[in-house]
Amino acid sequence: MNIREFPPTPVELFNVPLVHMGDFNPKYEGVYTPAAELGRPKIGVSEILLSGAEEYFSRFEQFSHIYSILKNAIDKFDTPLSGLAVDLGSGFGNTVIPLLSAHPDLRVLATDISPDLLAICRREAIKRGLGDRCTVAAFNAERDYLKPGIADAVFGCAILHHLIDPMALVRKSLDLLKPGGRAVFLEPFESGNAILRIAYAMIHGEAQRRAEDGPAFQFLRGIARDVEVRTHRFDPAPDFKWHQMDDKWMFTRSFFERAIKEAGAAEVIIEPIQAPEDLFTRQTRVVLESYGNIPASELPEWAWSIVRRFDEEFFSNEQKRDMPIEAMVTIIK
Ligand SMILES: C[S@@+](CC[C@H](N)C(=O)[O-])C[C@H]1O[C@@H](n2cnc3c(N)ncnc32)[C@H](O)[C@@H]1O
Repeated sequence: MNIREFPPTPVELFNVPLVHMGDFNPKYEGVYTPAAELGRPKIGVSEILLSGAEEYFSRFEQFSHIYSILKNAIDKFDTPLSGLAVDLGSGFGNTVIPLLSAHPDLRVLATDISPDLLAICRREAIKRGLGDRCTVAAFNAERDYLKPGIADAVFGCAILHHLIDPMALVRKSLDLLKPGGRAVFLEPFESGNAILRIAYAMIHGEAQRRAEDGPAFQFLRGIARDVEVRTHRFDPAPDFKWHQMDDKWMFTRSFFERAIKEAGAAEVIIEPIQAPEDLFTRQTRVVLESYGNIPASELPEWAWSIVRRFDEEFFSNEQKRDMPIEAMVTIIK
């Protein structure tokens, strides 16, 4: 076992011995991991996040966009962000890089199950002269390796919905925080996605009546099925279990209210990420074009008019704010 000094040394932050992965494979230079994690299978994590990390980085780098969302929460902190932030499920650093850039008195412990993504995160931090304030450690966030009370802030952008037991990580995040610290999560919410599912079911029914089909219809059917499985959390197929899925959960306000009650935290603030005006229409375009690589024009006008009814007819903008597709959740300890 080899524990190396690397500024800032992560050893003091963990309650277990660490191993430097770069000693076994140079591509993991600077990436630490708890010794207990070595050789453990990474179930429920897509291969694109491991061996396909560089491609994933080139497709999904969104440093400035993600920070423009997080900034709304950070601007409401009582004091400027400084000290240590623990970032959970950091990937290649969509939150970590802009946090370090915008907050010169902040150190970040970036964590993820994928050492490949963390190696990219570290490289991007060093490239920008931020490497001395960034430590990366690879481990499964469902396991408890970090010491309590170490963090001034905790960030988790799109990590909770990947976990089997996200409530345990919310509790752990509050445990990591110093009193008065804040945990900020960005996560998908059930209510807005349930509306999308209803819209896509209506489109499916109408497409059957018209005897129309094609990649756009098939993709929306897949999205509706995904929402269904994540809402009820059942095994999607006899040979494919729910816990093997990459995206596993969608959240409700009650989930986070229960979390703060159980943990004795002071407050939870839930703010929708997307603007309400054309919420469902815009998200359908994103779903088709970004996730499905399918031009929005593949979906006929009659189908778009069904989606638009949810934006223009069935709900007010005020109600849409109460049923986010994705939301930023700030918990104050
Ligand atoms: C949707 S990505 C978000 C990454 C980054 N926060 C961002 O905003 O781009 C989810 C990340 O969670 C990581 N992840 C999934 N399951 C995990 C687990 N059990 N423990 C730690 N990280 C996990 C994945 O490797 C991936 O990097």
